[in-house]
Amino acid sequence: MDLVATLAKSAGMAAEANTPGSLLAKIPLSMKTLGFDTRKKFDQIAVDAAELKIPVHSRRQLDQLMKNCIACHSSFKIIEEVSQ
Ligand code: HEC
Repeated sequence: MDLVATLAKSAGMAAEANTPGSLLAKIPLSMKTLGFDTRKKFDQIAVDAAELKIPVHSRRQLDQLMKNCIACHSSFKIIEEVSQ
């Protein structure tokens, strides 16, 4: 459960420090909202894993969180332009 807390924390809001402001300025608000909600869900998993230490609870939280992954991937895509 310590590893759950460590890994979840690393995927939480702290990871947003690596997102360039120039990117945040360009993506739609609904995508940002979904992204930040996902980060916050990871932070909650980290807190609960450290404090409650109940594996089935963490797994249920991850199950809920992964709906965000699917929601975003089915709605948004970043298309890379490749120059010939
Ligand atoms: C807010 C939107 C959003 C959320 C939430 C999100 N993703 Fe993504 N993800 C993207 C985008 C955009 C890309 C870039 C590829 C693309 O445009 O399809 C990507 C790429 C990826 C890739 C490919 C990375 C690579 O290097 O090619 C993986 C794997 C992935 N996401 C997994 C996840 C998982 C697991 C979750 C949930 C824990 C998640 N994503 C949540 C938007 C999101």
